[in-house]
Order: sequence, then C-alpha cells, then structure tokens
Amino acid sequence: MELTSASGSILEQRADSYVVPLTEGSRRLSGATAEVNTRSGGAIARMLRDGLVRGRNGEITVLPALGRMRGKRIVIVGTGRAEQATADRLRSLAGTLVRRLRDLDAGRVALAAQAPLAAVGSTEVAAEALAEGLVLGGYLFDRHRTREEDRPKGIVRSVTVVTASARQAQAVGRGLERGRILGEATNEARDLENEPANHMTPTDVASHALELADDVGLECTVIERAEAERLGMGSYLSVAAGSVQPPKFIVLRYRGAGRARPLALIGKGITFDSGGISLKPGAGMEAMKADMSGAATVIGAMRAIGRLQPRVNVLAIAPCTENMPGGSATKPGDVVYAMDGQSIEVINTDAEGRLVLADGIAYARQERASAIVDVATLTGAMSVALGNVRAGVFASNNRLYTDLERAAAAAGERLWRFPLDEEYAQGIRSDVADVKNVGGRAAGSITAAKFLQRFVGDTPWAHRDIAGVMSVSSDKGEWVKGSSGIPVRTLVRLALGRSRG
Ligand code: BES
Ligand code: MN
Ligand code: ZN
Repeated sequence: MELTSASGSILEQRADSYVVPLTEGSRRLSGATAEVNTRSGGAIARMLRDGLVRGRNGEITVLPALGRMRGKRIVIVGTGRAEQATADRLRSLAGTLVRRLRDLDAGRVALAAQAPLAAVGSTEVAAEALAEGLVLGGYLFDRHRTREEDRPKGIVRSVTVVTASARQAQAVGRGLERGRILGEATNEARDLENEPANHMTPTDVASHALELADDVGLECTVIERAEAERLGMGSYLSVAAGSVQPPKFIVLRYRGAGRARPLALIGKGITFDSGGISLKPGAGMEAMKADMSGAATVIGAMRAIGRLQPRVNVLAIAPCTENMPGGSATKPGDVVYAMDGQSIEVINTDAEGRLVLADGIAYARQERASAIVDVATLTGAMSVALGNVRAGVFASNNRLYTDLERAAAAAGERLWRFPLDEEYAQGIRSDVADVKNVGGRAAGSITAAKFLQRFVGDTPWAHRDIAGVMSVSSDKGEWVKGSSGIPVRTLVRLALGRSRG
C-alpha cells in the first residue's frame, strides 16, 4: 500500500474511492466533505438530515459515485466528536477503515483528513497515528493459505491523504513516513510471532536478523552454542539442552552515537515453549509458538531504528532457543551457572524465560549498556493480573520508567507499573544454589522480575512482561487477530527519545 500526502481539493485527485470525514454533532458540512456533498448533488447533507449518517466514531457509510465525480464510490467516515479527538482514537479508526476499504476492494483511495488531523492538535503526530493505523489494521498473515479463495480478494492499492495547504501536506508527509516505518516494524514482529515454530526456529530467527542487518546497515553477530559455552552462558544453554534445534544468541548493533554506551533491548526468544521436562498441559500449547515475542519485538524495533537513524547507540539482544523435553534436557533440581558466575537451581524447567534473560542481561552488562530494557512473555500470572489490556512493567530506575511510560503512551501500548520490594525475593532463595528459578504461587510475575533483577547490578533496568498482550483475540481498530507486535513502537520511541540533540 502506497501512502502519500497531497494538498488542494480532494476532487482534483484521481482515485477509485473518495473518503471524507464526518464530525459528530456538527450542523454544517465543511471542507472536503462539503465539496463532495455539492458534487454529489447534496447526498451527504440529505443523509445527515434523514439520520442515515451521524458521524459517530467508527461509523462507515458507502455510497456510489454514480458518475457525478471521478471514481466509483464515496466513503463517509464518522470521526466522532471533535473535542474527544486523540491520536489513539484516530489510529484505531484508521485501522477499522483500512479493513473496510480492503473488503470494498477500494483500489486507489483519496482520503480527506483536514478536519480529523486538526482535531488531534499536532498535524504531524496525527498523521503518524493515521499511518500507523492504516499499516497495522491492514496486516494479514496468510502465508500458509494455499487456496486463493481463502485470501481476501480486495486490495487497497494506495492512500493519498489530502489536506488544504501545501505546508500542511508537508507535515502530513513527514508524519505518514514515520508512522509507516513504525507500523511496518510492528508487522515484521507480528510475522515472526505468528509463524509456526517449525518455520521459525532459532536458526530462522537468526537468518532473519542477519538479513535485516544487511537491509538497514546494522551489525549482526550470532553466537553459536560453542561460543556461548566459552562465554559461560550456562543458564541460557540449560534451556536449549533438550532440543535438537541449535540455539542462536542474536546480537544486533545500531551505532548512531559514536562510542557512547548503548541502550540495550533484550527480548526473550523461546521459539517454542513446551515447558521442557516440567511439560505444559496440551490444551492451548500451540500459543507457545509466540514465546519468542520479546525477541521478535526487539528485532522489529531495530528495523525502525535503523531506518529512522536516531543519534544513540542501541544494542538488541535476543537469546533464542526452543524449550523441549529431549533426553538431554535439563531436569528439575539441576544447578546451572550463568555468565556472571551466579548459580541457579532449576526447580521448574517451564520457568525458562528468566534463565535465557539472565545471560542476556549479563551479556548487556559486559557490553557496558547505559540502560537495559527487557521484553518477555514471562509469566502466565501477568495475564491473570492485567488481562490483555496492559502489559506489566518493572523498573529499578524512576527516570527510565518515566521515559518508558511516555513512549508507551505515545504508541498507545498501555502498561502498568509493578513493585520490586525485597520481600518478594524471599521465595526464590535456594537451599543448594545462589537462587532458584521459581518462587511459590503468590505474586508469580513479581518473583520472576526479582530473579531478573539479580543480574542487572546497578545498571538502570526495566522489564516488560508481555505475556498477557502477546496476542489479540479479534480484529479491533489497529489490532488484528493473532500476534500483537507489542511493544515495538514503544521501544522505537524510547530509543528516539534518547537521541542526542
Ligand atoms: N512462556 C510462559 C509464560 C506464558 C504463559 C506466556 C502464557 C504467555 C502465555 C513461561 O515460560 C512460563 O511457562 N511461565 C510459567 C512460570 C512458572 C513455572 C513459575 C507460568 O507462568 O506458568
Ligand atoms: Mn515456560
Ligand atoms: Zn516461556
């Protein structure tokens, strides 16, 4: 889908579909909506008077152009009350709209956006949200459908966003470009997450990262098993012990600020979590193909960071492996050693995410990270606590938390802060090693975070547990059923926020 901006009358655009906004509660039609109304013989005004359209947010009405104007159809989009306009609402509306346009086989689309963009405040921020919505809402994962008739027939070939002045069109163009980059990076993460585990092994993730690095000019190092052994990553490798798939510890480096210490983004990369010897129940186990969502999102974020070129150094770390119950698998009670020398008693092999992250964090510290943000589908307890609405976040550092919160708010990827009181660490004391990998039943997400905190030392650190929000159960606004790609856009904005100057 092409995304461009233009200025002038929407009627001058050559398109198959003309999309005009309708604000709820406004008596008079204005701007492009008024122009299209006049050209169509007063159809929109009449429909408004007859109560056929009201402008409610998300209301989408299609009428034929009947030769009165170029193209085939006019699409009236309700944008709700102007005073309630936000970037989040616009992003969501754009997501709903793009799927409807695809169903209509809308072809080339001219979209009049003057009023809805103005209502949000900053034109550029609004255009960015609009582009994100269009790119995210139109996402599809149909790679494994072999029958043509099982794929959507319609297509949105291009969207031209039309505003009144050339200066505005420029701001819109900038916003659209950024929004598109953020949206595409999220969709890339969604692709990695949605891909079944037999098509997205650690080796496949590594190939993808190497290709990405080539595309946007990043450095990529893949640490193989032997090298990981030499580095002492016994915690990470203990998870890989039961699988025939070779583990891949992926490191991507973006250099935008010379020799400055990097921001480290670490993503849990379990390409399939069977639980290992502490085997999970069968029902719903297929969802565990997305247990590499942390890795997918830090990799996706690196694509956008590579394209947007902020003046900051970013280090993405994705320890990838399967968690399988093979004959050589780690057994409950085994003691393993992390890269920083700490010993860990593995009580439950299904608490594997923290084991791979421990070495990811130790590696980031060795690379002298200025701050560490990890992203992980870490605990089922997180979806018990927060459902699929917000992700939980833990932070050792208030400034880092505030930056993350701001970035998440701009992205519309909601989070909620959890505590890290020392008492929560009592449950993970081990009788035989420095620490054990599970606590009791209570506060499972917090004890997991306390486990991770043992490895961060005094580096500012935040941990985002995305277990509850890794997937979406139905299409809604910019969200499409399947994997969510959360929190790619937050991570990118966080990196942009740390850009110098
Ligand atoms: N990957 C799971 C957590 C998970 C569960 C993510 C459901 C998304 C949806 C993680 O590795 C896990 O198995 N955690 C255990 C921890 C327990 C053994 C302490 C859990 O939550 O049950
Ligand atoms: Mn597990
Ligand atoms: Zn897991």
